[in-house]
Amino acid sequence: MDYRLLDGKKVSNETKEKIAKEAKRLTDDYGVRPGLAVVLVGNDPASQLYVNMKEKACKKANFYSKLIQLDERTSQDDVIDVIEDLNKNDNIHGILLQLPLPNGMNEKFVNSKISPEKDVDGFHAINAGNLFLGDKGFIPCTPKGILRLIKYYDIEIEGKDVVVIGRSNIVGKPAGLLLLNENATVTICHSKTRNISEYTKKADILISAVGRPHLIKKDMVKLGAIVVDAGTSKVDGKLYGDVDFENVKNNASWITPVPGGVGPMTIAMLLENTLEAYKKKWK
Ligand code: GUN
Repeated sequence: MDYRLLDGKKVSNETKEKIAKEAKRLTDDYGVRPGLAVVLVGNDPASQLYVNMKEKACKKANFYSKLIQLDERTSQDDVIDVIEDLNKNDNIHGILLQLPLPNGMNEKFVNSKISPEKDVDGFHAINAGNLFLGDKGFIPCTPKGILRLIKYYDIEIEGKDVVVIGRSNIVGKPAGLLLLNENATVTICHSKTRNISEYTKKADILISAVGRPHLIKKDMVKLGAIVVDAGTSKVDGKLYGDVDFENVKNNASWITPVPGGVGPMTIAMLLENTLEAYKKKWK
């Protein structure tokens, strides 16, 4: 079967260009740039890399960006003090607390201190609750990026059987809710699911968000399925997706590459959420 690429790089670039133009225009009008603060605690190399990419993207989008790097021995109370200062800072419209936090910190509790109006990751209970209810609010960037990518290529969602693998609060669970809100029939599989293939083989749209290299093989994918790979892992310095792309591609009608699929969309959606937070404040 001929497959087509869900080209996250292209869609992300187009989105970022639009955002950069709008940010410039709004800055001229209001005299303040959209601002994103990224808080990084500790020195996890993957987190450092993500944070640098986010900073670079902000600069390119004509945003103000503030990186706050804290030593891994920083106390939870001190991290919360930093967040509370950012909540009050009028130049900051979005706050992103890079996860994972060092051992011993309560991620949910620290995240709950981010003002919901600045919670551009959409992890605060207020925003998660709004997604649950199908109401407006900040949607986590990776699932939002997945939905945007599917919609960009005019792929019908309503009535489709969607299978999501992974139930993280960052990707799997919100992705399931988003697609349910789009009238798909959603199944969420996870580490305790018995015989995952039985579910994946029935999926019209298969989304994998696990972080296990090449977990998804051809015999797990229905002919003509739309395959979205939201999992990345590194083995010996090499980046892998959850989907064995070369093996699976000929069963798919649409498929995301890794890299160049969901990853770039996540950053574009972070900028979009930050611009949304800014507009809510200034308009
Ligand atoms: N760590 C891995 N992915 C993410 C994300 O989307 N947001 C934050 N804050 N941390 C992460």
